[in-house]
Amino acid sequence: MSKPKVIVTRKWPAEVEAQLKALYDVQLNESDIPMTADELKKALQTADALLSTVTDSITADILNVEGKRAKIIGNFGVGYNNIDINTAKAQGLLVTNTPHVLTDCTADIAMLLLLMSARRAAEGERLIRHQQWTGWKPTQLIGQKVTSKTLGLIGFGRIAQAMAKKAHHGFGMKILFYAPSQPPQNIIDDLQATRYETIEELLSEANFVSLHCPGGEATRHLINEQRLKLMRPSAHLINTARGDVVDSKALIKALKEGWIAGAGLDVFEGEPNIDPGFLALDNIALLPHLGSATEETRVAMGNRVLANIAAFFTGDEPEDRVV
Ligand code: DGY
Repeated sequence: MSKPKVIVTRKWPAEVEAQLKALYDVQLNESDIPMTADELKKALQTADALLSTVTDSITADILNVEGKRAKIIGNFGVGYNNIDINTAKAQGLLVTNTPHVLTDCTADIAMLLLLMSARRAAEGERLIRHQQWTGWKPTQLIGQKVTSKTLGLIGFGRIAQAMAKKAHHGFGMKILFYAPSQPPQNIIDDLQATRYETIEELLSEANFVSLHCPGGEATRHLINEQRLKLMRPSAHLINTARGDVVDSKALIKALKEGWIAGAGLDVFEGEPNIDPGFLALDNIALLPHLGSATEETRVAMGNRVLANIAAFFTGDEPEDRVV
């Protein structure tokens, strides 16, 4: 029997690509140039499985292409807001993601941005790089102490809980969270966490606010001008979720006018384009979507996709099926 045809939209870790080559009739993307809408349509017409990732915008128009052969999209990423899930579902097209394996590394990046923002690390690094550091001073780059401060998490899924663990057990931080549903009591007890009924209450209370909700229409500009104004002037906002959860223009205004002290961002509206307003600010730490970017995690994400499509091709239910 011939091997299933699999098309991969971006370059993946070498050891995962080697396995794909061994198991499937695979088309890799050596150049790593993102595929165009037409190329994605063609891939859906010619492959049994399309292995996409978070940078591929798989719209209803693409999914509605005539003569589709693909029966599964194995998305490399825990987030799948890049795919029009409702259309995929209506078509009976199966979609999988890669949860669990990136939880700790993404939480590490959230904690890194929290520390960078609190301790003005990006500003300090720039000072040295620009050869403007003239030596230690009692009043230079005074930041804020992190230990024992309050961390408010918006969304309380796996990544938020992992960050809360690091913050609470490692830095003695007090944990507040806002989540639509109640997490297991043992998790709340372990973190001595307090659930807030509204985002507004949490924003006005926390010293640090970290966003952990999915992207998409439901959470677009969840953090807007009105909500930023509720935060403390000494507070910091951290975003490792999705760029469009925050209204960029409102955040730039908030940082410029001192409604809040600082921000740390790993994700951006319309990335990889960055609003030039962010680049002009000192009180912000910027990272290029590094959440899951460790060797171990990226290989594990690839293996997760491999396991999902292997299950599909042998007639089993893929473990990470989202629709
Ligand atoms: C994801 O998996 O959704 C991240 O944004 C990329 O690791």
